[in-house]
Amino acid sequence: MKNPRTVLVTGGCGFIGANFIRLVARTFPHWRLINLDKLTYAGNLTNLKDMEEGETYRFIKGDICDAALVDEIFSGEVIDTVVHFAAESHVDRSITGPAEFVQTNIVGTFTLLESARHHWLEKKLVGGQPVFLHVSTDEVYGSLGETGLFRETTAYDPRSPYSASKASSDHLANAYFHTYGVPVMITNCSNNYGPYQFPEKLIPLIFHNCLEGRKLPVYGDGKQIRDWLYVGDHCQAIVEVLEKGSVGHCYNIGGNNEKENIEVVELICDILDEKLDLLPSGASRRSLITFVTDRLGHDRRYAIDSTKIKDTVGWQPKVTFEEGIRMTIDWYLDNREWVNRVIDGSYAEYYHNMYDNKKNIGQ
Ligand code: NAD
Ligand code: DAU
Repeated sequence: MKNPRTVLVTGGCGFIGANFIRLVARTFPHWRLINLDKLTYAGNLTNLKDMEEGETYRFIKGDICDAALVDEIFSGEVIDTVVHFAAESHVDRSITGPAEFVQTNIVGTFTLLESARHHWLEKKLVGGQPVFLHVSTDEVYGSLGETGLFRETTAYDPRSPYSASKASSDHLANAYFHTYGVPVMITNCSNNYGPYQFPEKLIPLIFHNCLEGRKLPVYGDGKQIRDWLYVGDHCQAIVEVLEKGSVGHCYNIGGNNEKENIEVVELICDILDEKLDLLPSGASRRSLITFVTDRLGHDRRYAIDSTKIKDTVGWQPKVTFEEGIRMTIDWYLDNREWVNRVIDGSYAEYYHNMYDNKKNIGQ
């Protein structure tokens, strides 16, 4: 077995971060995980309620933009690995309020890179071979036409404030590798889905509205295409990249599950019709589908070529969309309380941090 790592995980109380922490705690019980999370509206401590603080897990409530705090963490712990998830992640919110995206996604990433450079390269405070893995998105590549795939060599062409902020953070991470030699790796993945996803994103939002008998908002003509990646597959890919990837490289991670949004929405309706009673009117949940005004600057199609990670790291997705969506729906059905607590706001430690969740959910 390889040496245990001491990992600074940022944004570990969010959707993917929590799934990653849970996976690592199960598969590498000797790794030490330090979870730095600001607990924004998207951070939910109950996602990790069974993680006990101690030798192998520590939670720190704080902001990645707080340079003094990040320095203190790097000074007090012998960190050899950073897995950087913390971000503002929702495209619609970036359209209505881009400032937070610039702050957290760009300034926050810069703050972490600076601290890694200072402690790892200048002070040489590091345990094993250090690595800074920056978790990014396929949205940095822009939008595809009917054909073609995003490759690691595809030119960046971000088109929303969210994707522009993530592209910017990727550029900073690359610059820190080339200029200073900070051992950076970047992963650019497609749309994740699975347990613990905040119900503002398409799949959990449609699930929740179906259960409440509310309208299912489909933007524009619903024919935009996303490549769906089961979150467990994504987290496994991150572990594999940490163990087998090369610094200075980026890796595209996709699910090989290209679907039109309308297909996804209809499938969720059909699965819920099959598992539960039909609507009180006797109609299928498909009758709730409502086409609404399109998202500004809505990217048409994303699709990933995952050849590099398959050939060099040996990872490929295991979960098909048909399997993953059923596992996800079962999880949400079994965890109704989790969803309800998110929607009524009772999960949140600090109400003043909260965006009005009801504005986006359940209309
Ligand atoms: P999320 O919104 O569910 O969680 C983000 C987490 O970061 C939350 O716990 C939040 O409290 C924390 N956070 C936000 N600002 C912070 C700050 N300033 N300091 C410390 N913590 C802060 O996001 P997610 O969907 O889990 O995405 C995680 C990462 O993966 C992001 O970097 C995102 O860009 C990237 N990504 C997500 C997807 C996806 O489909 N969800 C796909 C590709 C890439
Ligand atoms: O591609 C990776 C990206 O996937 C990540 O980087 C982002 O963090 C993540 O939020 C996600 O971005 P999207 O914008 O693709 O995800 P979202 O769930 O918001 O929307 C998925 C698609 O569904 C998109 O084409 C917009 C559409 N949509 C979304 C919502 C919330 C609707 O039609 N109706 C809706 O109500």
